[in-house]
Amino acid sequence: MQTKGRTWRKRQIKSVKTTSLAHKQEYIALFQWAKQNGVFFHKMKPAIFPGTGRGLMATKQINAGDLLISVPSKLLVTEEVLRNSYFDGINSTKALEFSTIELLCLFLILERSLGKQSFWSAYISMLPLDYNMPAYFKHHELKHTPDFFAEHGWSQVKSIRKCYSSLKKFLLDFNDKTKSIQLTFDDVCWAWNAVNTRCVYMIGKARFKHSPQKDNMSCSLAPLLDLLNHSCNVQVTAGFSETGKCYQILTKTKFKKGDQVFINYGPHSNRKLLIEYGFILPYNCHNSVKVHPTLVYEVVSNHYGDIAKRKFDVITKYCLEDTYYCSPNGLSWSLETALKILSLNDTKLVQKSFHINNLQLSTENEHLVSEFSKEILKSILVKYDKDIARIWLCTDGKDGLSERMQQLVMLLEQEMNTVQSALNTF
Ligand SMILES: C[S@@+](CC[C@H](N)C(=O)[O-])C[C@H]1O[C@@H](n2cnc3c(N)ncnc32)[C@H](O)[C@@H]1O
Repeated sequence: MQTKGRTWRKRQIKSVKTTSLAHKQEYIALFQWAKQNGVFFHKMKPAIFPGTGRGLMATKQINAGDLLISVPSKLLVTEEVLRNSYFDGINSTKALEFSTIELLCLFLILERSLGKQSFWSAYISMLPLDYNMPAYFKHHELKHTPDFFAEHGWSQVKSIRKCYSSLKKFLLDFNDKTKSIQLTFDDVCWAWNAVNTRCVYMIGKARFKHSPQKDNMSCSLAPLLDLLNHSCNVQVTAGFSETGKCYQILTKTKFKKGDQVFINYGPHSNRKLLIEYGFILPYNCHNSVKVHPTLVYEVVSNHYGDIAKRKFDVITKYCLEDTYYCSPNGLSWSLETALKILSLNDTKLVQKSFHINNLQLSTENEHLVSEFSKEILKSILVKYDKDIARIWLCTDGKDGLSERMQQLVMLLEQEMNTVQSALNTF
């Protein structure tokens, strides 16, 4: 089993005990508004949970097969609704220029600017103000993060900047009311992060026929349903029901009274969860660490010199590079197979009638594969040490590392544990 690491434990000490939010006026208003507008939610109330923050708690036992929640079309903020009716009056060229995410951001910003007068006010006023995705890191922090993280951060910032300039121009041109909205970059950042962490995906149905997006998926906001947190240990069935005209989630997992009710956002590793949603799980059954092909070839060519093109041809033919990973159980099949191919001497490779699923190696070559594997894993561990040391250089005066940076360190520590466990298998 992987250990959670020092930073994780420090953080847990600070966590509070479970606290119900159901008596709070703003939550009473939100749940009443949802109910009046046709949302069905099964035996759940809002609460703050240690470690996961705000979510929904089972008020009675929930059984496998139960409908957890359904949100009627009327409360689904879809691309179709936004393009067809909400923005009635926008000339079609303007509407077509926006991506679905930009449209949803515009919706949140316009409705938020209306305050209590907005039909959506009970919902919008309860959206979080702060996020932990890469885009929310301060620029000097991003500069201290590992490449994979910084790249996502800058790319998210670029998308938000683009969204900001499109929306600013739109608000100025649209009408006198929107002209007076003082749009800030932070407003757009808030809306963009809210949309990206809370949207549900619908196939086909919500796709506007003139959509600029090429795929068949569309994201939509689904009030109340988006209060459910993620766990990799639960199973759900989710989607738009044509018969019920609602987006619904059925659970395949049982919850006892007082448990937090979770749904499943997908088979995501903690790296993906941090980048896309701004959180990580203490134990994630989908944790694995990507191994960069360049590192693999570097280690092999240190032993062998140049690698024959024929070997790369075989690796490419079977698309092995796409799944170079390690997990606590060792290397992925693709990486191990690639190393076996790379360990063969060139004449053998040409002579061999190739069975990729059953590569027979000599004892000498088996040993070489094991040496390559250890060297690759050891270099990854060295890189993690350097990455973590660089993050610690970014302490904010006497306050130490920000919470966001601490969470990133936790992720790196977890990944290091995964790599160390893989190394221990040799
Ligand atoms: C759809 S919202 C879920 C409700 C959210 N917690 C709230 O208070 O509005 C998704 C966000 O919830 C948080 N979240 C979801 N699952 C989590 C978990 N298992 N642990 C910690 N945070 C989680 C993350 O911030 C994520 O971006």
